[in-house]
Amino acid sequence: MSEKVRIGFVGCGGIAVAHLKALVKNPNVEPVAFCDVNLERARSLASQYGAAGAMVFNNADEMFRNTVLDAVYICVPPFAHGAEFEAIDRGIPFFVEKPVNLYFEQAREIAAAVERKRVLTSVGYMNRYRKGVQRVRELLSQDPPILVLGGWIGQTPRITPEAAIYNWWIVKEKSGGQFHEQVTHTVDLVRFVCGEIVEVQAYPAKGFNKGVAPNYNIEDASVVNIKLANGAVGSLWASCSANGGGGGVSLSIYAGNTTALFTGWEHSLRLLRAGVEPEEIPGEPNIFEIEDNAFIDAVRLKDASRILCPYSDGLKTLEVTLAANMSMLSGQPVKVPLK
Ligand SMILES: NC(=O)c1ccc[n+]([C@@H]2O[C@H](COP(=O)([O-])OP(=O)(O)OC[C@H]3O[C@@H](n4cnc5c(N)ncnc54)[C@H](O)[C@@H]3O)[C@@H](O)[C@H]2O)c1
Repeated sequence: MSEKVRIGFVGCGGIAVAHLKALVKNPNVEPVAFCDVNLERARSLASQYGAAGAMVFNNADEMFRNTVLDAVYICVPPFAHGAEFEAIDRGIPFFVEKPVNLYFEQAREIAAAVERKRVLTSVGYMNRYRKGVQRVRELLSQDPPILVLGGWIGQTPRITPEAAIYNWWIVKEKSGGQFHEQVTHTVDLVRFVCGEIVEVQAYPAKGFNKGVAPNYNIEDASVVNIKLANGAVGSLWASCSANGGGGGVSLSIYAGNTTALFTGWEHSLRLLRAGVEPEEIPGEPNIFEIEDNAFIDAVRLKDASRILCPYSDGLKTLEVTLAANMSMLSGQPVKVPLK
């Protein structure tokens, strides 16, 4: 490896920018290649964040063939994965955004290939790196969780007719829906701090959001009831139809002697414990920087222990949200892991 970690990007949209803003502050990083099916986006990020001579591509295989990379960021929508295989074949460590896929079979094949080739991976569940999350995880290891409530509640998507055609988020067959795409963060946190989810039963609400766009077909809201391996129960929710306000991101965990109340995108924590003064741990505003530095250090030092969510773990979170989608269709509870 050269002195700096030479990185390439597959997918040059919104989240790629968030990572690049963090990565260019890291003196050990050199962004040398940018790939997007929309070449203009690749060009734009290369000119803003690329090292001198950075190359642009509209095809990931071409990027891998024509550049020497020490690591890759895969920042494509859930339906557009597959570039992982080329990275794995070449033994190149990769960071992949959540959710890791939309298709279970492909994700399982990627996980198996990662395992075979022993490639270092990291999944973009950045909330695992928060101090508050780690504190709660430690407390719950001694004081088992019993009830879990949380999710994401937002407004009806506002999209211009010209933009709707490019908007994958509002299309179920592309994003997997809000629970799969967004509440995946909450599902992952529940797994990280409370242990495995073993069964889900989901209920969708549709037909309330009117006139968003002709291709809008995701749920307006959903509720997913969960059972955990330790016997705890929970209810997680998604809504993109609450225009009166009062929504937001939350996760509340109730154990016998511990109540953990996370609020906001930044997951600020209010910790209540029987017989102890309440504790407040604000969420870190620069969480992408923390997550990216952990990945880059892991690549540089060949030390996977710095990564809090490898691909195999991201796959387990994927199974829960895919199970929720299956349950929304069938009306039946679905056991996890999937068969
Ligand atoms: N960790 C987080 O908090 C967070 C926040 C936002 C998005 N995300 C995730 O990041 C992923 C991307 O989201 P985004 O907001 O950047 O979307 P986006 O639409 O802004 O960008 C995605 C980009 O990928 C490109 N693309 C699509 N298919 C491609 C392919 N096969 N090869 C190369 N490029 C391709 C698109 O042209 C687009 O430029 C999603 O899975 C999303 O869930 C994570």
